[in-house]
Amino acid sequence: MRILGINSVFHDPAAALVVDGDVVAAAEEERFSRRKHGKQPVPFSAWEQPERAAAWCLREGGISAADVDVVAFSYEPTLVDNGLDGLDPGWEDLRTTYAERAPRFLRTALPGIEHARSRFVPHHYAHAASAGLAAPFGDCAVLTADGRGESTSMLAGEYRYGKLEVHAQQRLPHSLGLMYEELTEHLGFHRAGDEYKVMALAAYAKPAHLSDFAELVRVADGGFTVAPIDWERWAPRRRPGDEMLTAHAELAASVQVRLEEVLLELTRWLHDRTGRRHLAMAGGIALNCVANTRIADEGPFDEVWVQPAAGDAGTALGAALHVAAESGEAVRPMSGADLGRGFGEAELAAKLDAARVPYERPDDLAEEVAESLARDEIVGWFQGRAEFGPRALGHRSLLAHPGHAGNLERLNDVKGREQFRPIAPMVLTERAPELFGRGPIPSPYMLFVHDVAEEWRDRIPAVVHVDGTARIQTVDRNREPLLARVLDAFAARTGLPTVVNTSFNTAGRPMVDDPVDALECFGASPIDLLVLGPFVVRRPGVRR
Ligand SMILES: [Fe+2]
Repeated sequence: MRILGINSVFHDPAAALVVDGDVVAAAEEERFSRRKHGKQPVPFSAWEQPERAAAWCLREGGISAADVDVVAFSYEPTLVDNGLDGLDPGWEDLRTTYAERAPRFLRTALPGIEHARSRFVPHHYAHAASAGLAAPFGDCAVLTADGRGESTSMLAGEYRYGKLEVHAQQRLPHSLGLMYEELTEHLGFHRAGDEYKVMALAAYAKPAHLSDFAELVRVADGGFTVAPIDWERWAPRRRPGDEMLTAHAELAASVQVRLEEVLLELTRWLHDRTGRRHLAMAGGIALNCVANTRIADEGPFDEVWVQPAAGDAGTALGAALHVAAESGEAVRPMSGADLGRGFGEAELAAKLDAARVPYERPDDLAEEVAESLARDEIVGWFQGRAEFGPRALGHRSLLAHPGHAGNLERLNDVKGREQFRPIAPMVLTERAPELFGRGPIPSPYMLFVHDVAEEWRDRIPAVVHVDGTARIQTVDRNREPLLARVLDAFAARTGLPTVVNTSFNTAGRPMVDDPVDALECFGASPIDLLVLGPFVVRRPGVRR
């Protein structure tokens, strides 16, 4: 069956194509529209469909809209209960109306799709499938948690013979994700998008109010309750650009640690209930790599896998996988996060020619790039298919030297990011245990944090967070031979088996996706060397 998965209701609109149980393509609309997160997370934007991402998925799969057997939407409007505490019935009605009409909206964007059958998949079933069916485990336990779906904010269950069995769901208004979003807003950041900044901030202080939050956020049998929270009690509301006070960091730390404790208790409950050895996770909460590491390190499961597109974008893939599995198809685990657009050499050369920039094709690209990095240059690295999910994983990345502390500030400046936010290292899987501990290895998707070994902290200061951790990406030599050779060649020059890897974009923009995006970003920011497939472009004045 050819199943087109669509996420469009809340934020991070995305599309995915699953054909006969194989993941063929998945992409977020923001990479096409160049609007970060695709749209505003408000009810009146729920009509917007990921039309460009969906059209590309069909092209990538070599099929037309008329060939689609099922369109799977990751939201089931009949499950909405707009009488729930804390929800605004007026806005809920509007969102529900748009969600019900999503198939019609999509048909206008993708003519020909009217022959397809539309299916609404419950939001958390879609999150669950994006984890449990995409993970490399086979049947496993699954935990999803986010701001909200239709009427729930968490699901705990397991896959048995490829089908989802739900053990518990938490109903709204109780939501770990909405609590974290409220805090994000209180601290002067964008809710439903900037939560990772709160996680980074939490490392700067002690959880001074943990006992208060243990009262406010309580664990129940396979669920939790969250009391209404008056955030002013611990720290004043911060406006964007205001000074960050210790009180803000202490509040962030308190909520972060309580979140970790609650998730640990939920995983223990789920483990007792299922007896499974493997856990797969998704939902926006599963992008919290500090919590993920505690679950992997202290929790009861032998192995934990997190969907790289754990946020709502991943529900496009999950909705399609869910329908495939429910239809009795054998679903294959996803092979990697590189499910987005890719470009051939001829296309890359044509874009370079059109831009009339001088470029060349080095005999040994890996050596050329390693040399540039060793000279402390910033490299824009564009290779293969774009990543699905928020992390750059060596396909649309900025690379830099990890040995110079100043590179944290330098890259945060390029990207217009707050200086308290860390940048991350990529490292060959086989070398990772020398440098990094506690978190799981391999860690190909940057979804866990690791402790940096004491003897390495001074050698790679650019990538060590204030608490001595790093959010690593391990590179598998077989899957990423070119990147592995860059790491080898850089290590041969510097003695450092790791380089800085951050996403290839500037402030407020989505990651670059096509070669023109990359050229525009290169033109507007102090990147020294742009690598587009086998070609390199040097910034004028940068020595060779
Ligand atoms: Fe979600």
